[in-house]
Amino acid sequence: MTDLEVGFRRNAQGALTVSGTPLGPLLGPLFEASRIGTPAYVYDLDGLDAGARALEASFGSAPHVTAYAVKANTAGTIVRTFARAGTGADVVSGAELEVALACGIEPRRIVMSGVAKTDAELDLAIAHDILAVQVESLEEIERLAARARAAGKPARLGIRVKPGVMIDSHAHVATGHDAAKFGIAKTELGLAWERIDAHPELVAVGVSSHVGSMLREVDPYLTTARVVCEVVKARLATGHPLEYADFGGGYGIDYSGGSVPAPSDFVRSALELLHGEGLSALKLVIEPGRSLVAPYGVLVARIVQTKQSAERRWVMLDAGMNDLIRPALYGAKHRVELLDAAPSAPEWRVVGPVCESSDDFGEHPLGQAPSGLVALRDAGAYGFVLASEYNGRPLPAEVFVKDGSVVHVSSSPGRERWIARRLEA
Ligand code: LLP
Repeated sequence: MTDLEVGFRRNAQGALTVSGTPLGPLLGPLFEASRIGTPAYVYDLDGLDAGARALEASFGSAPHVTAYAVKANTAGTIVRTFARAGTGADVVSGAELEVALACGIEPRRIVMSGVAKTDAELDLAIAHDILAVQVESLEEIERLAARARAAGKPARLGIRVKPGVMIDSHAHVATGHDAAKFGIAKTELGLAWERIDAHPELVAVGVSSHVGSMLREVDPYLTTARVVCEVVKARLATGHPLEYADFGGGYGIDYSGGSVPAPSDFVRSALELLHGEGLSALKLVIEPGRSLVAPYGVLVARIVQTKQSAERRWVMLDAGMNDLIRPALYGAKHRVELLDAAPSAPEWRVVGPVCESSDDFGEHPLGQAPSGLVALRDAGAYGFVLASEYNGRPLPAEVFVKDGSVVHVSSSPGRERWIARRLEA
């Protein structure tokens, strides 16, 4: 992880701080003034900015695009922070493309991935002349060509290759193995290039791959990157130029607070590989999502009550699987900590209010008599974006902190709006 003096840390008094400012006193007045309530996502903009800038710096003078995978967190405040730090974007829908553009990311620093891009999404990408639409099937090549013809404009494209690599991660987030729906199989690449070359309105500019998420080692990334290099070299050998090689994202974080390779470690190895393959002239594109945002967000919730049963001690929160679904969906464990006291025995089973047994955040050391506010750590990625309104629970608020102050609040739609919308339906 990072050694930067930003992010969520405990001070000497045991209070959880955001870049040095204790969270309890920072959020208390907001919650008391009822401007917002719990649960609320809280983001550290200084940490996000420093992390993105450190990653950008790790490229040195090498031509590159850090295509932030916007799906990890689509908040405009965050995307604008990254845009100012120099990143581009990897988008997977027309709406994500619009957010990236509106946040100031230049079109030529945006790639669009996705196995089922609609005609309207392809049209938008063509109209803005983005760096590339990364096609994921032979059929999509034909559709992209048809849309380019209809627009009377060329379409820049990359081929997303299915690397045929299985990673040691949750099955739901492994995307590069042979049975995955993503990308074009190596055996079909000859035909793919042939079809591309048959369409004068298509401009092939790159090759990409994304092997999956939560990589805890650099090796599987490099195995995939080698496949991309092979495909790039084979294409160049036919006399066709290319602009970039895209090795994808997937850099993991350690949800238990330990360490895994930093994003810059992946970049360094990737640059070495490109150099070794004689491809340093190409732009290196990477697509990190989680690693840029997860550590810089927490979900703050209130303890509604405790419960002692014969089997265990329970803590019931006002945040549930509808606010943070990762534990229910992937068996993920986010540390749950009191805001005002360091973790201490005994362990409590922390659960949410939703009527499903998977609404369970696991066992956490919350001390003798837990009460008040807790933080669910490392919730900046795939947190809010996967939230739902299940059980009549409106989407959570989002609070953005910079230099120790709350600089922006995005309120929850609230229960009145929830009720009104359902009554209208
Ligand atoms: N590029 C592509 C084409 C992707 O599909 C993804 C993530 C990324 C980049 C960024 O991967 P990252 O650096 O964030 O690992 N909801 C799951 C993660 C799903 C990842 C989907 N694709 C979770 O909460 O763990």
